[in-house]
Amino acid sequence: MFGLTRARRTAAAAATVAAATALLTAPAAVAAPQPVVGGTTTTTTAYPFMMQITDASQNQFCGGTLVSPTKVVTAAHCMVGETTSSVRVVGGRTYLNGTNGTVSRVSRIWIHPGYTDVTNGDDVAVLTLSTSMPYTTAKYVTSTQTSVYAAGTTARVLGWGTTSQNGGSSNQLRTATVPTVSDSSCAGSYGSDFVASDMVCAGYTSGGVDTCQGDSGGPLLIGGVLAGITSWGEGCALAGHPGVYTRMATFSNLVTAQVNS
Ligand code: ARG
Repeated sequence: MFGLTRARRTAAAAATVAAATALLTAPAAVAAPQPVVGGTTTTTTAYPFMMQITDASQNQFCGGTLVSPTKVVTAAHCMVGETTSSVRVVGGRTYLNGTNGTVSRVSRIWIHPGYTDVTNGDDVAVLTLSTSMPYTTAKYVTSTQTSVYAAGTTARVLGWGTTSQNGGSSNQLRTATVPTVSDSSCAGSYGSDFVASDMVCAGYTSGGVDTCQGDSGGPLLIGGVLAGITSWGEGCALAGHPGVYTRMATFSNLVTAQVNS
């Protein structure tokens, strides 16, 4: 997919990915940078289950959602190439340059065994923490709660990712709301890269509000409940190219098995 941003973002790779994405998508879009998580700043006090996934030096590269004191749901593509010693989870830290909150090591990384590439689905992972997080957890949708995805439903996204397609990360956690998009419409945008059983799209037809690089792994909340995981998109906030999120209901039972293991 032209301009598809599928790579796991690391601090080192970010500039390269952003530059490549800019070059690839520039001809297709109005060049003006658009605010991405184009909403507002917020805090981990307001969203206590919002976790930073970081490297061993506590440099954030993805988001995650605390679903039990020792379990975090994130994206499989965030964990490719990572090991239990290369990753940390940081809770209660609103700012990337903060030093507060709770830092935990990871004792186990479960990546969906079917995961190959974001455009093939199965983009879900569960981390087991060595240290319990003293924060309120998020509920996640059950396998039968498929009606939450009805087109036009308001969903909330969160992250520290880039605030424009070619821009830098946000030091402060941001949030925005975006409407869910019908499967047929999303298939119209992305063709066979959109796997309806495993993905759900969200965004405005006109673009302007979206997740972007560094937001991956973080939550898409519907009615305050974890219903999606930031996964991929063509560029960021482009008209006609909504964000694509892992369809949590499809993986709910698998995640529960991991949460209980
Ligand atoms: N793959 C990106 C990440 O690793 C997330 C991209 C989301 N893109 C979008 N247009 N919604 O951070």
